[in-house]
Amino acid sequence: MKSIIVYSSQTGFTKKYSEWLAESIGAELMTVKEAAKKDDSFFDSFDTIIYGGWVAVEKIHKLDWFTNRIEKWRDKKLAVFCTGASPATYSGVQNLLDRSLTDEQKKYAKAFYCPGGLDYSKMSLGSKMLMKTFAAMLKNKKNKTDDEIAMAEHVAHSCDQTDKKYLEPILEYLK
Ligand SMILES: Cc1cc2nc3c(=O)[nH]c(=O)nc-3n(C[C@H](O)[C@H](O)[C@H](O)COP(=O)(O)O)c2cc1C
Repeated sequence: MKSIIVYSSQTGFTKKYSEWLAESIGAELMTVKEAAKKDDSFFDSFDTIIYGGWVAVEKIHKLDWFTNRIEKWRDKKLAVFCTGASPATYSGVQNLLDRSLTDEQKKYAKAFYCPGGLDYSKMSLGSKMLMKTFAAMLKNKKNKTDDEIAMAEHVAHSCDQTDKKYLEPILEYLK
């Protein structure tokens, strides 16, 4: 069985999960930038194709690369996972996963969430400014919900929530 993981990672959390997953299932690894340069026929020989992307303003970064192609890959094992700063229990996570694939795509592909983290030292200036604005907005918000309180704590500083245990549901699905 030949597998490949294509990923997009700005600060390293998605890369880390992709490497862990590649090690567990013996998959090849490729950035989405490299994958976009390949002819689609390059992926024909893979039985399993997984896309990993980081969450950027409630959307999975470069997910289009995957969703634009999966219809023709429907006979393969297909999964997408994303990493974000949100804790796994955050109510927005399920919503995000639900929106990632259409009802039709959900018949042959599945979406997962792995808590990533935040690394302000590796973020682009634009990303850093956006996150700082978001953190300040959350902090100043009155009558925050429990989720917003948890989120405000998470985005205030760099943090790392990565853990191999979050890959278990993906490994189970791939069996
Ligand atoms: C501009 C920007 C927007 C983000 N938006 C979200 C978001 O909507 N939800 C979330 O959980 N995390 C969000 N994050 C956090 C990243 O998804 C998180 O840091 C992710 O693990 C980064 O993965 P990477 O290290 O592979 O780049 C955002 C980060 C940046 C820089």
